[in-house]
Amino acid sequence: MPRVPLIAGNWKMYKTVPEARDLATALVNSDLPAAVEVAVCPPFTALAEVGRVLTGSAVRLGAQDVFWEPQGAYTGEISPPMLADLRCHYVIVGHSERRQHFEESDEVVTRKVRASFSQGLVPILCVGERLEERDTGQTERVVTRQVEIVIAVLPPEQIRPLVIAYEPVWAIGTGRAATGQEANRVIGLIRETLGRKDAEAAAQARILYGGSVTPANAAEFSQQPEIDGALVGGASLDAPKFLAIVAAHGKSRA
Ligand code: 13P
Repeated sequence: MPRVPLIAGNWKMYKTVPEARDLATALVNSDLPAAVEVAVCPPFTALAEVGRVLTGSAVRLGAQDVFWEPQGAYTGEISPPMLADLRCHYVIVGHSERRQHFEESDEVVTRKVRASFSQGLVPILCVGERLEERDTGQTERVVTRQVEIVIAVLPPEQIRPLVIAYEPVWAIGTGRAATGQEANRVIGLIRETLGRKDAEAAAQARILYGGSVTPANAAEFSQQPEIDGALVGGASLDAPKFLAIVAAHGKSRA
């Protein structure tokens, strides 16, 4: 079975509720290619409203983070059952901005992945090397380790549906995307890492590229055999740009 490409928009800390409603409305009112899956990850405050707009459409809802306990005295946190209640399908876990600004460790990321699965949410696990790690030739080691730590505790049935996003930190929000070839190579390594645990997981799990994806470079990534879509930040905040990225992936799979 060929893997269906996924284009997910990570809206980060942008969009008020009315702005989020407008963006989601523009997406559901457009012609989306059937060969591509589309998801949006608005901020927590807009999840309910965007969920309402997406009802009955093929666009899926995702959250940007989650806590690992189902409930409790954890001021400010949001739990997996709360996200499931809002009909979230995906949840981004381990984004480099969380690792960097909130000091999320691999252990925390692993807990969040497990907790998400326990509620039927599909985690989009983000991994990627920082600039100094890339410059010192550590990309493979860093990325492999970030993936291995998480999958070590997962049964094969949970590795197979997992979505992984390879987001080199130096490419996020910088306008300096990886080349298609470069991203394809690292994503191939991630797939080999999955394969060492479960061959079926390597065949089934979708691995996306993220980091300064734009309408101008989307086709380059979509044509790479190992890359199964994109996790889009800045360009997902603008409906025409995001739709152009979706369309580029639709074309290469048509
Ligand atoms: P940009 O597309 O803005 O570089 O962000 C990528 C990203 O972090 C998506 O999660």
